[in-house]
Amino acid sequence: MSALQPQLDEIARRLRDAADAVNDSAELEELRVRFLGRSGEVTLVRRGIGALPPAERPDAGKLINDAVAQMEMVLDAASARIARGALDEELQRRIDVTFPAPDAALGSIHPVRRIIEEIAETFERLGFATVLGAEVEPSYYTFDALNIPADHPAREGFDSFFITPELLLRPHTSPMQIRTMQQHRPPVAILAPGRCYRRDAVDARHLFQFHQVEGLLVAEGINFGHLKGALAHLSRTLFGPDQRVRFRPSFFPFTEPSAEVDTTCPKCKGSGASCSMCGGSGWIEIGGAGMVHPNVLREVGYDPAEVSGWAFGVGVERIALARYEIDDIRRLIESEPDFLRQLQ
Ligand code: DAH
Repeated sequence: MSALQPQLDEIARRLRDAADAVNDSAELEELRVRFLGRSGEVTLVRRGIGALPPAERPDAGKLINDAVAQMEMVLDAASARIARGALDEELQRRIDVTFPAPDAALGSIHPVRRIIEEIAETFERLGFATVLGAEVEPSYYTFDALNIPADHPAREGFDSFFITPELLLRPHTSPMQIRTMQQHRPPVAILAPGRCYRRDAVDARHLFQFHQVEGLLVAEGINFGHLKGALAHLSRTLFGPDQRVRFRPSFFPFTEPSAEVDTTCPKCKGSGASCSMCGGSGWIEIGGAGMVHPNVLREVGYDPAEVSGWAFGVGVERIALARYEIDDIRRLIESEPDFLRQLQ
């Protein structure tokens, strides 16, 4: 029996003890290097083979190889034990689901959009469909079909941006009345919100791009009372249950009779007492309305003897200014997220 065996056994025993004590794979790797690496203990023993008589060398080589194989098994077992421990630790880690999460920076719905959605929902509950139209319209839908012939002075009032002599950025949402009625037989009940454009110089009360919501109801037996009820309902949903509406006689070529629609000033509650919002009148104008002109009904192939209808167009920014008591319309389009966020 070679004198090598006890020496190898002794090394193996120390390796086993050390391997039992290691707890992470970096330490284990150090161990592997220390015992089996290029200048490791076993390697040094192996180098000693050269000093033995040639006849003993093969046996010595075999002894060393067996010892190395066993030591590798010890190291592999320790490695498996460390991996299991890491997994257990991972599985046992508790997550505190009650820990407060960091605040996410959420955006908010723009007040103009919020108001459009509220108006649409109000009318959808009454059975109206919401329709969207193009922002570029031929003058036929913008004017002619709405009873505003080419030479009519009312065209001037719309201060339109023309793209070609026949095509313009729509200055109101009323073209959607024509498009809807040409596509559907009566009864029709629609709401058409959207952007409009006019050549207005920007100031505290005007933007050249703004939003309107058009409403249209055409059926048998519709009268002005229905219009009044619809707009009173609308202002109460937007501003509160005590809201009143007022109709002032006016003129629009596409309605007869026509009216400007006012609602109680939400700031002074209609008292007018030195109110900067309504200029002391107690009322805020929100749009125009009227009974659809027979010429408009005829233009789309409806018979004014059979059906009648009301229409309105309200200005969304105007409603926003009154509702949030803002004194400058530009604040709605300037990039002031903190200001806009608080307008609910
Ligand atoms: N289109 C008009 C404007 O922008 C507003 C309007 C008035 C719409 C009367 C209507 C209406 O539907 O009946 O000034």
